[in-house]
Amino acid sequence: MVTTSQTETTNTGMKGAQPVILVQEVHKYYELGETRVHALRGVSIEIARGEFVAIMGASGGGKSTFMNILGCLDKPSAGRYLLEGIEVSSLSIKELATIRNHKLGFVFQGFNLLSRTTALENVELPTLYARISKAEGEKRSREALALVGLADRISHFPSQLSGGQQQRVAIARALVNRPSILLADEPTGNLDSRTSVEIMDIFQKLNDDGLTVVLVTHEPDIAQYAKRGIQFRDGKIRRDERTENQPRASEVIKHLPSLED
Ligand SMILES: Nc1ncnc2c1ncn2[C@@H]1O[C@H](COP(=O)(O)OP(=O)(O)OP(=O)(O)O)[C@@H](O)[C@H]1O
Ligand SMILES: [Mg+2]
Repeated sequence: MVTTSQTETTNTGMKGAQPVILVQEVHKYYELGETRVHALRGVSIEIARGEFVAIMGASGGGKSTFMNILGCLDKPSAGRYLLEGIEVSSLSIKELATIRNHKLGFVFQGFNLLSRTTALENVELPTLYARISKAEGEKRSREALALVGLADRISHFPSQLSGGQQQRVAIARALVNRPSILLADEPTGNLDSRTSVEIMDIFQKLNDDGLTVVLVTHEPDIAQYAKRGIQFRDGKIRRDERTENQPRASEVIKHLPSLED
């Protein structure tokens, strides 16, 4: 008997060992007038379901370019990308949008919330695109906001929330369609260190529940919470290793000086 811990998003059936993300010899060129930037130079990687990966490396190394490809926001110039076994480059624009909506959740450094819209409405937005009913969308949005500890802030506008709370709204928005992968590009880049650890606590708990998380960060302190660290330099992967003894963010928070929230 085979038992798997994943109960959600199993529309591909029982393919236990298939990697969620399979990237083979991916290159990316940006053409800018006369110049051509070779941003990714043969990147290959496998990420299994339930992994928590931190991507690090110097500025300009290709991290965001790589994340944009993982997130189906951009296509490789050469090489293959299979997302849950689906060859992404063969999909139409419409199919790509559907995949983005259903399989992927995004969190960015700048939160990207709509300013004239409440926390609840911000989180509900992706459910509209996914054609989920209004009632179901609202229910899921409330649940997602509760999950990130914001049940008491659902009617606040972004300007009425702290940076960490805004990022938590963005995380709830990324989760509301129950994606199988969470992609986060510098999610703590605009946050103080305590709030950053709080965000990592949320990511670790989501990962405990089986969500695959891929995070870009410049900060080794943040990367240590992931289970695997990948170093990019000059468009290539230079290092890829398991993180030894990653700390629990929930424990670390207890020893940090608290700020008023
Ligand atoms: N849209 C674009 N057009 C042209 N060149 C680009 C574009 N986006 C990125 N590049 C170039 O590709 C290279 C990789 O950029 P990328 O944004 O992936 O780096 P990064 O590792 O995310 O850096 P950072 O840590 O500063 O965010 C850089 O040399 C950059 O100038
Ligand atoms: Mg970047």
